[in-house]
Amino acid sequence: MRKSNKVSMAVIRRLPKYYRYLGELMENEVKRISSQQLSQLTGFTASQIRQDLNNFGGFGQQGYGYNVEDLHNQLGKILGLNRVYNTVIIGAGNLGHAIANYRSFEEEGFKVKAIFDVEPEVIGIEIRGIKVRDVKELEDFIKENQIDIGIICTPKDVSQEIADKLVNSGVKGIWNFAPKDLKVPDDVVVENVHLNESLFTLSYMLKERINR
Ligand code: NAI
Repeated sequence: MRKSNKVSMAVIRRLPKYYRYLGELMENEVKRISSQQLSQLTGFTASQIRQDLNNFGGFGQQGYGYNVEDLHNQLGKILGLNRVYNTVIIGAGNLGHAIANYRSFEEEGFKVKAIFDVEPEVIGIEIRGIKVRDVKELEDFIKENQIDIGIICTPKDVSQEIADKLVNSGVKGIWNFAPKDLKVPDDVVVENVHLNESLFTLSYMLKERINR
């Protein structure tokens, strides 16, 4: 298998979609699939799919296609989903609540170990059985609980300060929802999620249609 650091981000960003469709195929007891059929499902061309998968050694056989379960397992490993990640959420507001309440992340191996906030009226409550703690305890909690990922759901003006605390305590992955470009060392990865960027893209496409 070729090293994943040589694979472009564009390819990596398509893998979760392949993984999701393959999971659905497994649920429907589909055993094998051709790149043409995968193309119809995912909207990517068959040659794009073959090229993408060839980055990791290719898993199909000429005339057979792909074994669905095998490809799903392989992609799971490539995506690092064959392990459990300990996470903490910082900011127990609307978004923090929504993420903490979403069970599916847990089923995929992303366990929320604690939630942190600064507001006294929120500290001490439980969200889906997970205690909201004082953010002052964040660094000690991370060090004592082998936390892999910090999920930032705070206002943007404190998000860099929170990121610094996460990094200084040893967290290597940050899932950032605050609308702020965080500065972190090279050995820490940040994945930004900005729903409004997606909404603005929708707005652009809608505008193009209306103006057609
Ligand atoms: P919210 O105001 O409901 O929640 C923010 C929470 O952070 C509050 O409970 C507050 O007490 C807590 N907080 C403030 N300072 C803190 C600190 N220093 N340490 C720990 N907790 C602290 O806000 P909401 O709607 O949940 O949004 C949270 C963040 O997510 C904002 O930055 C917002 O702009 C962003 N957002 C991002 C979206 C996206 O698509 N990426 C979508 C919606 C919101």
